[in-house]
Amino acid sequence: MNSFLSIKDVENLPGLVKDALEIKKNPNMYKELGRNRSMCLIFLNPSLRTRLSSQKAAFNLGLNTAVLDVGSQGWKLEFEDGIVMDGDKAEHIKEAAAVIGSYFDVVAIRAFAKLEDRAEDYSEQVMESFKKYCPAPVINMESSTGHPLQAFTDLITIEEYKTVERPKVVLTWAPHPKALPQAVANSFSRWMLEAEFDLTVTHPEGYELVDEAVGNAKVEYDQQKAFKDADFVYAKNWSSYHEYGKVLSTDPSWMVTSKKMSLTKNGKFMHCLPVRRNVIVEDTVLDSDQSLVIQQAANRVISMQTVLKNILEGLK
Ligand code: CP
Repeated sequence: MNSFLSIKDVENLPGLVKDALEIKKNPNMYKELGRNRSMCLIFLNPSLRTRLSSQKAAFNLGLNTAVLDVGSQGWKLEFEDGIVMDGDKAEHIKEAAAVIGSYFDVVAIRAFAKLEDRAEDYSEQVMESFKKYCPAPVINMESSTGHPLQAFTDLITIEEYKTVERPKVVLTWAPHPKALPQAVANSFSRWMLEAEFDLTVTHPEGYELVDEAVGNAKVEYDQQKAFKDADFVYAKNWSSYHEYGKVLSTDPSWMVTSKKMSLTKNGKFMHCLPVRRNVIVEDTVLDSDQSLVIQQAANRVISMQTVLKNILEGLK
């Protein structure tokens, strides 16, 4: 693996999952792989899980890390070409990415969607610019349109807890007071389809995801119908793709409740976290044995460690 920007960088998904499950059994098995190597974690946005799980994954591989919070510590970056830089942005991505890549063996970046201009967000300008100008392999720690490390984590977790070969997985929209990106939902859908699970996506009308993410998943506008006989329910809020970045509904009747979970086949509840209790999901679900959110978050170390292991093995 050279870089990890999306599922397109994964050549053999079952092989990657197998690697992850082996690493989980023995997290220190590749302790020498990162010796005398280093990784820079660049954050343009906040994080708890991604930041700490990435550092822990690196630690398990003997890999040193440095963290740069661009917002508070770095120069404000310019991504446009041919621009007169007389505004508030002091450094161009061409220099910044080249310099960081000269210091480190691997560079990981988090840069959320701005939700102002769909074409700009869906061009993945930040991630693509790093890939173009950084000589080191690049890892996506959540970009404008995808969160592949989270989706890989989710796949590992489902593989661990599934009781049938091809589980029914439901991705449900849930209400949230703020406009959130589509990144987690896009990647979750893509990875579930690639794993050939039986995927249903449910949301109010107007919240249709981009076609490439939904593929041949079933789209069901009746949430309760969607939940019927589900093995896994994955809740996430996202803002509208078609009326880009808009909050079209905060309808509380879309919150995941114990009553709705009773429609499933004793299904498991999943969410990437952070989650707003009693907005996205009721306490009674999160605090029940049906919830896998902590196990999921723990697997963030495993997904990053597996990706890093594959990238480090490819370094000369
Ligand atoms: N799920 C996730 O990416 O969590 P953080 O935003 O805390 O990193």
